[in-house]
Amino acid sequence: MSSYEIKDIRAVITDETGVHFKPVSVYIDGGLIAGVNRRPDGFIPDYVYSNNARKLLIPGLINAHTHSHMSLLRGCADDMPFHTWLFDRVLPLEDRLTPQSAAWGTLLSCAEMIRTGTTCFNDMHMFEEVILDAVHRSGMRAVLSRGLVGTCRDGIPSDGGRLEQAFRDIDAYRQQNTNGLISFALAPHAPYTCDEGYLRHVAQTARAHGLRLHIHVAESRRECEDSQREHAKTPVEWLDSIGILNSQTLAAHCVHITPNDIGILRDRGVSVAVNTVSNMKLGNGFAPVPQMAAAGVNIALGTDGAASNNTQNLFRELNALTLVHKGHTQDPASVTAREAFYMATMGGARALGLDGVTGAIQEGLRADLVILNLDMPHLTPCPDEISALAYGMTGLEAETVFINGKPVMEKGELLTIDLPRVLYETEQAARKLHG
Ligand code: NI
Repeated sequence: MSSYEIKDIRAVITDETGVHFKPVSVYIDGGLIAGVNRRPDGFIPDYVYSNNARKLLIPGLINAHTHSHMSLLRGCADDMPFHTWLFDRVLPLEDRLTPQSAAWGTLLSCAEMIRTGTTCFNDMHMFEEVILDAVHRSGMRAVLSRGLVGTCRDGIPSDGGRLEQAFRDIDAYRQQNTNGLISFALAPHAPYTCDEGYLRHVAQTARAHGLRLHIHVAESRRECEDSQREHAKTPVEWLDSIGILNSQTLAAHCVHITPNDIGILRDRGVSVAVNTVSNMKLGNGFAPVPQMAAAGVNIALGTDGAASNNTQNLFRELNALTLVHKGHTQDPASVTAREAFYMATMGGARALGLDGVTGAIQEGLRADLVILNLDMPHLTPCPDEISALAYGMTGLEAETVFINGKPVMEKGELLTIDLPRVLYETEQAARKLHG
């Protein structure tokens, strides 16, 4: 494995006191950040990145909730209500996906994420084996989970064999691959697509195998009304009453939640992945991020699938999240650029159980790093680089991306993904899907 020096560059550093800007030189060796402004003894880099006067180094962003294969459904159902979108458009189209077309969709998402500075993502998908293979080829860090929908009677789950399949694929991957970039979780889809017995069964199974849970919670108002009718509880209260919520749980969305729900999420140590663009586009609202943050809930950022966003670009999330709360509260200090950036990096790492692995430019963490080009009209002058991340950048400033100490993009060119081929194949697959 090659070693690298990124010489004299402005960087966004996160430590116990917050998110700062600092000039640094970073030394990468054996996949790790081997030193920050401290050259390891005897370190001679194989490659040096210099001439960084108009560059910015950030930790790779973490997309804490998406459905990577759904890139194929980009733009298929815009400007329609959530239930029509889900049940009349997205689910029927998703049923027509083949494993092969889903794999192309996943590679397309990986290409877009790397191209816009994301190095790690948390995926809920439908086709374990081919998705695994696509993600492995992309070189991205990921937590993968097969979406689970089912019921359970007398301890016997009925889910079309999905849970068993998930474990077969997890075991197969663990036997074949040892690079440590991919880990697994279990993903019961939502409280309204899994019954109580099945949720309990999946949660027990996750505990027995040391796996985390990834679930959609309180995404739409209708979900909450249905939950009140059926259980006389909010979705969060109900999931808590059946023992699903703990520090190993990542709840996506949490848009329609009460102050009591926020207290439960905090007390149980649940992480929340907010998906601001997706929630707003579907007319679902947006999550009460200032209230959750004030209560001490760990918050991460996600894009959700491309059928509802329509991109996998976390820079758009930084922008939307910071703006929507300022507009809504009429308080310009509500969700600052620094807070949002923390959520997109350290918050994500913690939500995925990867704190101590990735999420910051710190000695000893894996080298998941992005060099951004600031030499652009819309970023000149740039007196505050961290503000520029939320308010000025588009994501396409990402120029060079390292994952696990290895370049996966160099000067805007993807090294692990054959982009022209992926664009061609996904166009073909999407045409068949809609044809
Ligand atoms: Ni989702």
